[in-house]
Amino acid sequence: INNGLAVTPPMGWNNWNAFGCDVSEELLLTTSDQILGLGLRDLGYDYVVLDDCWQDVNGRDKNGKLQPELSKFPNGLRSISDHLHSQGFKYGMYSSAGEMTCARFAGSLDHEVDDANSFAEWGVDMLKYDSCYHMGRVGTPSVSFNRFKTMSDALRATGSNILLNLCNWGEDLVHTWGMSISNSWRVTGDIYDSFTRPDDLCGCNQVSPGDVNCIAPGTHCSVLFIVNKVAPFADRSIPGGWSDLDMLEVGQGGMTDEEYKAHFALWAGLKSPLFLGNDLRDMPAKAFTIINNPAIIALSQDPHGRSMTRVRRDTDVAKDEWGVGETHVWAGHLQNGDQAVIMVNFGGQDADMEVSLAEIFIPFGPGGAAPHNKFDWAVHDLWAHRMPESTAESVLAAPSVAERAALLKKANWYNATEI
Ligand code: DGJ
Repeated sequence: INNGLAVTPPMGWNNWNAFGCDVSEELLLTTSDQILGLGLRDLGYDYVVLDDCWQDVNGRDKNGKLQPELSKFPNGLRSISDHLHSQGFKYGMYSSAGEMTCARFAGSLDHEVDDANSFAEWGVDMLKYDSCYHMGRVGTPSVSFNRFKTMSDALRATGSNILLNLCNWGEDLVHTWGMSISNSWRVTGDIYDSFTRPDDLCGCNQVSPGDVNCIAPGTHCSVLFIVNKVAPFADRSIPGGWSDLDMLEVGQGGMTDEEYKAHFALWAGLKSPLFLGNDLRDMPAKAFTIINNPAIIALSQDPHGRSMTRVRRDTDVAKDEWGVGETHVWAGHLQNGDQAVIMVNFGGQDADMEVSLAEIFIPFGPGGAAPHNKFDWAVHDLWAHRMPESTAESVLAAPSVAERAALLKKANWYNATEI
């Protein structure tokens, strides 16, 4: 949607992957302190998002308004938002286009105007809008569209500019209409902390990913599944509206370092919103050196704002313990004419991969001539300047924000010229 927001994929942190319903003021504020102290806000992670389970278990108040659970949020939500804003963050909230949220708290369906007004009063900058308990209002693109458009309109009518993220898991071809009413839309059920493992809980069979009619609600979608699902329509993302591949799992412990690097690079290159999903207050050093890699973040935030597209997929490679194995080559342009490439091995064993310039150079501009053979190309590995693990360890172990800042400055890590 053209509301001036999400001109590049939004970045931040969301509590769901690591904490689920275990939310509180303390969690949000200690995490925002940590994002700041680790220099991550200044790298672009500036939305702090409170997911499901913030609501009062008794439902709406006597005036029909949503209310927070006071034992979790003793000072209310406005005070959280004021605090986050004073730290230079934006505040994200959650509701559902249903009678209830997925965790069975009060949902916003048929209460859109009231709830949009509450969000605006609380100083909310972003709404993640889920799709559970939708009272049967799914099944065709227009039925789902109308349910979500009502909230989009209500948010706009508040006069506050609130980023809208749709969370209907790819249902009803959201990639064909999400753009007109929102800033991003989820394309699958929930990610889980696995690179390739197929799981029926992903909601549709992992052997038919790529079929846009294959709807994938559920809670166990691997990195490979999500990437395959978005591949046919990756080019739908443009500034203002992005396919959302779900929150990141980096740092959660279920994948290897190489798998997390691939996960993060794919989310950046495919222009997904980049929401950290791990406990930032207790993070392995290696995870820190992935999420703070300024070169990969620059790939995500490049102003050209177009997803890489998949130029090759080979399935005839060695399989892993789940019987899964494939390799992909993804390629895309950057604003300055550079070409970005991801070669990724989802197989169980080392793979030799080659790619030609002709294959990765997607014709650019009018006429689309590909002058790849007319220039000398300099090749840069975007992981080459990754922060050394020892530096990350000392930053994470530093006892105060000031000492962290000093160490980060000394490491001169975030100096763009290093990229
Ligand atoms: C389903 C969504 O896909 C998740 O990201 C999360 O928001 C949960 N609902 C919360 O109940």
